Amino acid sequence: MPPLPRLIIATRNAHKTAEIREMIGDRFEVLDVTAFPECPEIEETGNSFLENARLKAEGISRVLEGWVLSDDSGLEVDALGGAPGVWSSSFGGEEGNHVKNNARLLEALAGKTQRGARFHCTMVLARNGREQANFSGTVEGRIIDAPQGGHGFGYDPLFMPDGYGATFSELGGEVKGRLSHRSRALAQAVKFLETAGNNG
Ligand code: IMP
Repeated sequence: MPPLPRLIIATRNAHKTAEIREMIGDRFEVLDVTAFPECPEIEETGNSFLENARLKAEGISRVLEGWVLSDDSGLEVDALGGAPGVWSSSFGGEEGNHVKNNARLLEALAGKTQRGARFHCTMVLARNGREQANFSGTVEGRIIDAPQGGHGFGYDPLFMPDGYGATFSELGGEVKGRLSHRSRALAQAVKFLETAGNNG
């Protein structure tokens, strides 16, 4: 069997890599930048998911050969005017601290009956330092009053997707992999890569 084409994910977030690998690991060898110590730290200085996704994919593909895929994602809450959005990972005051982020979200929504929210994901595919394509996915849902469930990461314990009476954390990887913002963006990226001549 020929080796699988390699796809490098421009992230150090092991949860994102694991979800992406679970979704497409039979079609690509999925690695992330933790396998390449020479990769620079990319600062997310953009004001939109697309700007940040572009910074990450182009920055990493300047130093690594082959296809690089980035994921910039976050939670948009209607009652908060779309916040935390691109600042989702540091909403609680400490980058990547999901416990603090969830606590801050519940605090901000205390007493509010409007609970609509969505996860958004923008992905950029880059090669040789240049964006080749971008893709977006969203999943609509609502924020509940207290964390429920043990799977996933980030805001998963507080997010119930529309049509389900359970959070992403309770539903687990298989269901999340069918519904999520990430899987919806990834399906388009994979289609692009599988187009003749694109996955060499
Ligand atoms: P990024 O690394 O700048 O893209 O930040 C993504 C942040 O958005 C994460 O740290 C989480 O707080 C949130 N987020 C993105 N995707 C998900 C998800 O699938 N579940 C839960 N939280 C997510």
